[in-house]
Amino acid sequence: MAAVQRFIRTFSKTSLDLDDVASLREHTRLPLLLKGVLHADDARRAADLGVDGIVVSNHGGRRVDGALGALDALPTIVEAVGERMTVLMDSGVRTGADVFRALALGAQAVCLGRPYVYGLALAGRRGVREVIDNLVAAFELTMALSGCRTVADITAERLVRADGRPVAG
Ligand SMILES: Cc1cc2nc3c(=O)[nH]c(=O)nc-3n(C[C@H](O)[C@H](O)[C@H](O)COP(=O)(O)O)c2cc1C
Repeated sequence: MAAVQRFIRTFSKTSLDLDDVASLREHTRLPLLLKGVLHADDARRAADLGVDGIVVSNHGGRRVDGALGALDALPTIVEAVGERMTVLMDSGVRTGADVFRALALGAQAVCLGRPYVYGLALAGRRGVREVIDNLVAAFELTMALSGCRTVADITAERLVRADGRPVAG
């Protein structure tokens, strides 16, 4: 019951903002990652507050209907803070090509939400492993077919827009 009450107090506290991050920073030397960042200004502010990294995320599209896609937000955020902090990304990562695109746009890694839970629901621990193994295999295949030997080879120059314009530059 105490845990439930604590959860409700925390998650219904709509007044939480970046000032609370400053207080968190004061309380721990552990690495601090801030999740749900979609705007470069918030990312800069997080870096100024001493946050170690951010997860560019719209929480899997489950919060604001029509919110900016995390992948669309990624490049400007990487440009703003990529040299100062770790930038991870989630929301909608389903295939090896999704991982490839996120890394090409500057994410250092991606996170998975629902896919591993689906694996868990279908086949427990083995299901989660299968989801991860399949994703890694598809990612490596995408790398090979795109001519990338190492993750460092995955750059924005590898991407073009649907109309043929380059993504980089
Ligand atoms: C059932 C469910 C509950 C979630 N609850 C939270 C939450 O309390 N806090 C949070 O930051 N993200 C929450 N998320 C979002 C995930 O942490 C993650 O950002 C998202 O699932 C990634 O997108 P994907 O599911 O498309 O991979 C939740 C996601 C799901 C599916």
